[in-house]
Amino acid sequence: MTQPYNSPFVYVSCQHGAEKILKELLSEPVGPYRLAYSQKGLVTFKSNLATPPWSRSLPEHPLIRSRGHVLERLEGEVAEPMIDSILEKYSELDWQHLHVWQRDIAQPGWHGFEPGRSALASFLVEKINKALEGRQDTRRASTDHIASADTKILEIIIDEPNRWWVAAKPVQTTEDGWAGGVYAPAIPEGMISRAYLKLAEAIRWSEMPIKPGDRVVEIGSSPGGACQLLLDLGAKVTGVDPADMDERIADHPSFTHWRSRSLQVKRKEFAPFKYLVCDANVAPNYTLDTIEAIVTYPTSRIEGLILTIKLSDWEHALLIPEHLERVHSWGYSRVDARQLAHNRREYCLAAMK
Ligand SMILES: C[S@@+](CC[C@H](N)C(=O)[O-])C[C@H]1O[C@@H](n2cnc3c(N)ncnc32)[C@H](O)[C@@H]1O
Repeated sequence: MTQPYNSPFVYVSCQHGAEKILKELLSEPVGPYRLAYSQKGLVTFKSNLATPPWSRSLPEHPLIRSRGHVLERLEGEVAEPMIDSILEKYSELDWQHLHVWQRDIAQPGWHGFEPGRSALASFLVEKINKALEGRQDTRRASTDHIASADTKILEIIIDEPNRWWVAAKPVQTTEDGWAGGVYAPAIPEGMISRAYLKLAEAIRWSEMPIKPGDRVVEIGSSPGGACQLLLDLGAKVTGVDPADMDERIADHPSFTHWRSRSLQVKRKEFAPFKYLVCDANVAPNYTLDTIEAIVTYPTSRIEGLILTIKLSDWEHALLIPEHLERVHSWGYSRVDARQLAHNRREYCLAAMK
């Protein structure tokens, strides 16, 4: 018997520009799928098998921001009837929370655009929650609820204001629990740079347990957004960068500036640090050579790394497994990669002993 909610379609969302390589990697003959629909930042695929909405079999790749089973595509000019039709059709499905999110409209950071902060999605959430109340359905929708492992998530993806997709997934990873795969912390007043958001997301994703009093070094620290976050967390921070730090960071009592390039600092100077963050705008091999020299030095006690690795073009994402293997060989047991929502053409490599 056909199960009413089974579907052969899956979607992946990603940063604008990453679609091409994801299509190559996930489509036949390399991957198991055939390409279906594609837009900037959102690609759908078809497989030979219709799977249930809570099947754990979903695409995986560091460039995938979020993924799910596509249940249907809807078009319409007026939100209310579209919402009613979705709530009616999926009322019998045992979903637990509904995430509403919008496909990226630009590259992160472009003219102030940041993923995961869509006014349209918030507007729809209000309408959906009102409709759910009216139906005496106690389940709720949100744009920012963080769902825990195994939660059954229904999704409304705003592709265009008049074209939505309904999808479903079980939460299998930390980022599956974020609407659209975006961890969107509040933007603090006086944020020094976007690196604040990038590092906030990196710490949350990697679960790096940075605590007040921990000593953290950042290579490529100017102007200081990431240091601002680390100082807010109560860490004692050293920034290595030939360029100036914002004076709010430079004057902070828990901050020290080493005004030089990383290779000019003696390796034994890194002995006091527990965590190392690197956000230098240099080639991947330069970053990895620099960090390898530091963490393999006999006096190093660095337990955790958060590295931003630049991708000079999208094809360089094919080298991610090699990068992970290399970092693993330095004695880090948990090594993982993800293109964060707040990354630009770069990805985050996190490693812990
Ligand atoms: C993307 S910015 C860093 C943003 C910074 N993390 C923040 O939170 O605002 C890149 C920085 O890397 C620095 N940089 C490039 N090569 C470096 C090296 N070899 N050692 C230290 N810093 C370097 C540049 O001077 C530049 O300030």
